[in-house]
Parts: sequence; structure tokens; C-alpha cells
Amino acid sequence: MSITIKDEAGIAAMRQACRLASEVLDELTPHIRPGITTLDIDRLCADIMRRQGTKSATIGYQPAGYPPYPGHVCTSVNQVVCHGIPNDKPLKKGDIVNVDVTVIKDGWFGDNSRMFEIGECSIAARRLNALTYEAMWLGIQQVRPGARLGDIGHAIQKFAEGHRLSVVREFCGHGIGQKFHEDPQVLHYGKPGTGEELRPGMIFTIEPMINLGRREIKELQDGWTIVTKDRSLSAQWEHTVLVTPTGYEVLTLSAGSPPPPAFITAAAPASA
Ligand code: MF3
Ligand code: CO
Ligand code: CO
Repeated sequence: MSITIKDEAGIAAMRQACRLASEVLDELTPHIRPGITTLDIDRLCADIMRRQGTKSATIGYQPAGYPPYPGHVCTSVNQVVCHGIPNDKPLKKGDIVNVDVTVIKDGWFGDNSRMFEIGECSIAARRLNALTYEAMWLGIQQVRPGARLGDIGHAIQKFAEGHRLSVVREFCGHGIGQKFHEDPQVLHYGKPGTGEELRPGMIFTIEPMINLGRREIKELQDGWTIVTKDRSLSAQWEHTVLVTPTGYEVLTLSAGSPPPPAFITAAAPASA
């Protein structure tokens, strides 16, 4: 495993790419309402990226063994865990959708996703979204030099399972920089004190996928879409995070980012 350490110039470039990735979601947000299709969301995001001068990292993306990914973003509705392909079915009141945006700016990748609630959603769906958001931030809160990757996974798993939710194991966070997916793999489950030690200048995503039912997943025939095997609801949030000398800096923040949970804002931010 070889984890790249970013220098000051690389960090500056990542700050920009990541802020832009977050701003795509900011600009998308006012358009989300019942009746919109995930293809509309895809087109809106493509327009925003064009105006920004960024490119989608997902369109045409083709890891070994996969067909080229056809969307500018991933749109994962209800029981879709991740990698949902934009389509022309209108979203309806009560649906939950993850929009996952990865942009390329000057050769650097910024990756983030948020959940959106369509109209009024069930208590169960709202609880899943909120707890998954907290789980992501609990993972982020572990990030500092000397901590280990297993500390992140453990914090997320313990919290999620403590709320009788389940953590998807087949997909994970990842190093990111001048490539979309770099080492290390950032598992969203694990044991404290295990795994690679974090060092300043590492940049990776934390992007837990949490299910209301069982953790098992299934891939659809399109070669991309991942759904829960039991068809229960699934949620995901994603940030790109830098390890700083004293803690962490969340790079995918912008004016419209949802505020961090109270347990983060109450503590002194680790990067301050
Ligand atoms: N953005 C996703 C991630 O967080 C990856 C999407 S790959 C795609 O890593 F091809 F499905 F778009
Ligand atoms: Co990612
Ligand atoms: Co992503």
C-alpha cells in the first residue's frame, strides 16, 4: 500500500477542487423537490460543473470489470446503496436520495455526497439520514496524526450498530488526490488501534453507507447499481478530509454545507 502525502501546493489544489464539489451540491439543493427526476439532477449538476470550469470524474469512469459509468453524478434512491444511475423516473414525496458529486479541477479530484429528503419523509427515513450523518462525523472526529484507520471504522460501526442499523462492508472510503481512488481503503467498520497510522498530508474520503435493515447488498444487471438485498432503506454521506498536524480539515465544505453535529461544534475544531 502506498499512501500519497500531499505537499502545500497539492493541499491548496485539493481545497479548491473539494470546495467546488461541495458547491455543486449547494447549487443543486434549491432544485430538489417532488417531481424532479434523477436525470434532471444529473443535468443540473453537469450545468453547474460547466459554469465552474470543473469536469465530472464519474462520466465514462470505468474501473476494471465495469461498464463505463454513464452519469455526471451518482443518484441513489431509497434502497439503492450507491452508484445509482440517473434515470427519468420522477422522485415522489417520501423518497430519500443520495447525490454523489466528484469533480476534477486542474487535475485534482474532490468527492462528496449528501442525502436529500423529497417532501416530508417517514420518521424512519429521517432518522436513518440523521444517524448516518452523525456516523460520518464521528469517523471524521477520529482523524489526527497517530490515529489509525481502524479507529475511524470502529467509531462508525459502533455508533451505527448501537442504533440497530447496519454498515455496508463491500464499499469504503478511499485516498484521493490526482487520482479518483487511491490508497488507503477507509473501511467503515473495524477495530480501534488497527490499520494504517494517519500522517499529516494524507487526504481521504469518509463515506459510510448505512442500512435500516441487514447489511447485505446486491448488484443490479446494469453493472453499477447497488441495492440492499432486503430492499431496506440505505443512506450515505461523504466528505473528503485532510490530516493536519493537529487533527483534521474537512475539505468538502462550502457556504451551503449542512452544519456539523453539535458534538463537533461544541469541541474545538481539531484543525483550528
Ligand atoms: N463518488 C463515488 C465515491 O465516493 C464513486 C462513484 S464511481 C461511479 O467513491 F462510477 F459510480 F460514479
Ligand atoms: Co468517494
Ligand atoms: Co463520492
